[in-house]
Amino acid sequence: MITKTYNDLNDRVIESQIQVSELMEFLEPRLLEKYPHSYLKNNNGVDTIQVQLSKIVVITDGDLEGKVILDLGCGSVNGYDGFLYSLTKAGICFSDDDFSFHSYEPWLCRALCELGAKPIGIDRRGLENEEFEHHELDLLEDNLDVIPDSSIDVVNMYQLLTSSIFSKNGDYKMLMEKLIPQLRRILKPEGVFVYDTS
Ligand SMILES: C[S@@+](CC[C@H](N)C(=O)[O-])C[C@H]1O[C@@H](n2cnc3c(N)ncnc32)[C@H](O)[C@@H]1O
Repeated sequence: MITKTYNDLNDRVIESQIQVSELMEFLEPRLLEKYPHSYLKNNNGVDTIQVQLSKIVVITDGDLEGKVILDLGCGSVNGYDGFLYSLTKAGICFSDDDFSFHSYEPWLCRALCELGAKPIGIDRRGLENEEFEHHELDLLEDNLDVIPDSSIDVVNMYQLLTSSIFSKNGDYKMLMEKLIPQLRRILKPEGVFVYDTS
């Protein structure tokens, strides 16, 4: 695994915005048709895809076709549980109608499928009836044995470290100590690990 520092990543992400906007124009009607219950319309889904796609477009030089992209904590159909937990903890009363059930669904993996990439989604919750390869694994406990050596172009991890469910069970250091040796094994020599901490 090579550690690359993109000093100009922010500039390049900004430059990629036109390309990403075009991709979103292509994606939105397709995703809305496939997932009519969609939270996408309420913006959160669109933002979630756009932010992550911007980085992935830069890393892959805009060539997503056939790229194998592993999304850790990709979201699931049960993903709203984490949000419920944080609201409850904050003492906020709510009903299921207060917000969408679909906010943390695996939007990035779904979008990458539409764009010709080969996403693999991993989440501790069940993922059913999705078009992409997915595995139910707890990253704090399980290993990535299902992923072959040197097979991944990009590992993406977005809003996992800051999710309430994650911080309830583990911490950044614990996860990274477990993950890094495994990422060295599964990433291609030029592969990139992209994650956020805020
Ligand atoms: C805030 S959501 C983000 C979902 C998605 N990445 C997105 O950007 O919309 C965090 C996700 O991380 C998953 N997660 C939290 N802790 C995990 C763990 N230890 N192992 C695997 N997945 C985990 C949760 O189930 C949830 O789907």
